[in-house]
Amino acid sequence: MVTREKLNVAVIGVSGRGMGLLSLLCNMDDVRVTVVSDLYDDRMQMAAEQAMKEAGYRPLSIRDYREVVQRDDVDCVITPSSWSSHIRIAIASMKAGKPVAIEVGGAYSIRECWDLVNTYEETGVDCMMLENCCYGRKEMAVLNMVKKGVFGEIIHCQGGYQHDLREEISMGLENRHYRFSNYLNRNGELYPTHEVGPIAKYLNINRGNRFLMLTSMASKARGLHEWIVKNKGADHEHAKLHFTQGDIVTTMIKCAHGETVLLIHDTSLPRVYSRGGRVQGTRGIWMEDKNAVHIDGISPPEDFSNLEASWEPFEKYLEQYEHPLWKEYLREGVKAGHGGMDYLVLRAFLESVKYNRPTPIDVYDTATWMAITCLSEDSIAMGSMPVPFPDFTCGKWINREEEVPSKYMLSKIPEF
Ligand SMILES: NC(=O)c1ccc[n+]([C@@H]2O[C@H](COP(=O)([O-])OP(=O)(O)OC[C@H]3O[C@@H](n4cnc5c(N)ncnc54)[C@H](O)[C@@H]3O)[C@@H](O)[C@H]2O)c1
Repeated sequence: MVTREKLNVAVIGVSGRGMGLLSLLCNMDDVRVTVVSDLYDDRMQMAAEQAMKEAGYRPLSIRDYREVVQRDDVDCVITPSSWSSHIRIAIASMKAGKPVAIEVGGAYSIRECWDLVNTYEETGVDCMMLENCCYGRKEMAVLNMVKKGVFGEIIHCQGGYQHDLREEISMGLENRHYRFSNYLNRNGELYPTHEVGPIAKYLNINRGNRFLMLTSMASKARGLHEWIVKNKGADHEHAKLHFTQGDIVTTMIKCAHGETVLLIHDTSLPRVYSRGGRVQGTRGIWMEDKNAVHIDGISPPEDFSNLEASWEPFEKYLEQYEHPLWKEYLREGVKAGHGGMDYLVLRAFLESVKYNRPTPIDVYDTATWMAITCLSEDSIAMGSMPVPFPDFTCGKWINREEEVPSKYMLSKIPEF
């Protein structure tokens, strides 16, 4: 049942990411961006101008998010703000009765994750992390393969945020970007959700399975210093800084049903972008970096004289296991934004609000994925000690009610 014809949306945080999402929103027939908000006036101004150009109207510019979430002309809130403000804004929004979508990022404390979950349970208002990689074409085909049992019983998954961000981080003070101070003060798995989001859905986390504990290890930190010396000069004041964030942070998570998950955070050394996905089960394996699959009894058997010949191209499986949402999307025309997934994750949120159904990534998923960051900081601080994972569902994961079906659902493969 359609409950709202047109959604009035507030966008809080309109820097690089916010402007990208704003552009997608401005081109949706059933959305009107009524408010843009940021701590910086020039950014609000630019966002309002962009909406004018793309949608033909000018949203209000309001700096204080507490005022934004109270407004009658705001039905729901999307917040691509900085990592440290997501949860605060989400809580204010839920308390005001407005469903909220937060951009990706990790948490600073377990307490704020509980605050998020508790606010949802008190208000019944949805909070969704906009984890676009859950809607990536590849990830959705792999989800379909996992749910169809192609890999057998899943034993191990891995992935990483492996992205050379040396310039973005090192220029953070000049560009008013939040990563700089995080790398200067923290040491942990700072950005786990692009890989752990899809993996959590492969492993039914919070719906029949859960993360039990994790352990993290950080390498030394050299990449940013070297970049700064080379590009800003050895005498630059930033060359004297000591970055605490290890160049490579490796995290292992154990699940209640025995699966292991390996996450790699790798953003301050030269490299080529990859999320390094891998899913391995009793019948086969997918390796994103090889763009290949090997399935027992289907792929050519292992031959040591020509190992490459035992791998099959992922494209073969993509053709067979294309997710129905992507089949429809390809027919209708893929929209810009990280290969199309940005549009899908926004629609997953907006249509949940519009049709009044729970979001496919819920508050328990959001809190669980965000918690990895502060848990990994604790583990590293204690010499890679294992740390227990909170059960944000308080036991509901064991007999969780079925997800309300929709074409965006992630716990099952929808039929439409
Ligand atoms: N899903 C993706 O593919 C993807 C890609 C890029 C960035 N992101 C995420 O999007 C978010 C924003 O990234 P960015 O690169 O644009 O960061 P940014 O630091 O450039 O922008 C964040 C903006 O939020 C504003 N802000 C912070 N607190 C606020 C508050 N209380 N009220 C109003 N505005 C506030 C800041 O002033 C800033 O303009 C981050 O969480 C980032 O991890 C996601």
